[in-house]
Amino acid sequence: MPGEDGYFDERVAARYDESAAETFDPAVVDPMVDLLAELAGDGAALELGIGTGRIALPLARRGVPVHGIELSNAMAGRLRAKPSGDEIGVTIGDFATTTVDGTFSVASLAFNTNMNLTTQEAQVECFRNVAAHLDPGGCFVIETAVTELQRLPPGETVRAFHVSETKWGFDEYDVARQGLISHHFELVDGRLEQNSIPFRYVRPAELDLMAELAGLRLRERWSGWKREPFTSESDQHVSIWEKLDA
Ligand SMILES: C[S@@+](CC[C@H](N)C(=O)[O-])C[C@H]1O[C@@H](n2cnc3c(N)ncnc32)[C@H](O)[C@@H]1O
Repeated sequence: MPGEDGYFDERVAARYDESAAETFDPAVVDPMVDLLAELAGDGAALELGIGTGRIALPLARRGVPVHGIELSNAMAGRLRAKPSGDEIGVTIGDFATTTVDGTFSVASLAFNTNMNLTTQEAQVECFRNVAAHLDPGGCFVIETAVTELQRLPPGETVRAFHVSETKWGFDEYDVARQGLISHHFELVDGRLEQNSIPFRYVRPAELDLMAELAGLRLRERWSGWKREPFTSESDQHVSIWEKLDA
């Protein structure tokens, strides 16, 4: 069982930026920051699961006030240690329930992190928590995978998502429960490190229903941050729900 830092403890935090290096590429980050800055307008941004600041730091550099909610002290510590990292407020806690002062014109949950909440109740609670923190007309953005169930042959439960000379990743499905465990293996200094993280996968339509329960309405759904069309072939979506007037 994970400790109080959850699945992103000191061991994971110490290597997070390196092992997710390709996601720190400006070609990946800039379109995210462009869209979030546009949605923030003159307001502030709330990032759920802010991590080591991959998105929050460049967003803050655009002049957008950013606050984060983060379960892991180890991840937040890495953010704080970066240049200007201590200028970003981080509240330690579970983003499904943790409240912070103020309201925000945009809230975001990137990199499949919504699925770190492993029950439907917690995912619904998260939408309600976000809605309570949004300005009227404010937006909630989620970037998350469309689970590759179409590629899971009948009777199989495991699918490889990454195979290279130093890294291997396998998703293990429990279809009846919408459960998924992502098993990551990586060779580090000649030793095999393992990190297995449980998720509850969730289809776009279920997210839309969660949004409705929270008083939010779908505004846009794309397959990427550059507003690429979302189609039957898309393996992820970037969805934006807006808070309806009270
Ligand atoms: C995949 S990382 C993403 C970090 C950052 N948003 C990024 O895009 O690089 C997921 C982060 O969410 C945090 N997290 C996961 N579940 C959480 C929860 N229920 N409440 C708060 N933070 C959570 C983890 O500790 C981790 O830092």
